[in-house]
Amino acid sequence: MKKTIELRLNGEPRSVDVEPNEVLLDVLRDKLGVKSPKIGCERGDCGACTILLDGRTARSCLILAIETDGHEIVTVEGIGRGGMTPLQQAFVRHNAFQCGFCAPGVVLAATELLQRNPLPTAQEVKEALGGNLCRCTGYEPIVEAVIEAGRAARRTRRTRRHAQEDAP
Ligand code: FES
Ligand code: FES
Repeated sequence: MKKTIELRLNGEPRSVDVEPNEVLLDVLRDKLGVKSPKIGCERGDCGACTILLDGRTARSCLILAIETDGHEIVTVEGIGRGGMTPLQQAFVRHNAFQCGFCAPGVVLAATELLQRNPLPTAQEVKEALGGNLCRCTGYEPIVEAVIEAGRAARRTRRTRRHAQEDAP
């Protein structure tokens, strides 16, 4: 029997009717019009369907939509609303993606990593993105872009802090 769930999706309150057995990935794409989570393996192996659920990466192919009632979901559509983030810009500069199928999941996994570890090592980036498979690249440009974005964010924070300290 259908149930109406309420969730916060990319900053907006949304409600949607779901069947008890519908997975979140299908509901996002087919009922809520959010297409960035991709349909890959559908068994938790590839990371193409990655979302942020209450701020943590999650596989939307493994979660029943009904379980997300009352929770917050962020997809790539929600993090780039003011234009591309510095992380996304770094991915572009490094030509990190080719077909882009893996990109939304990688962007979200890297976003979460930089929030909890702003200056990751290459090994830490590889571990954080280990569940996001890419068929096209050798991963190195992806890793380099994440490290660069972390360093750039630190420079921005320092510049802001110095500007505040110098303000009259
Ligand atoms: Fe969900 Fe592959 S489609 S992990
Ligand atoms: Fe094609 Fe990653 S760029 S799967």
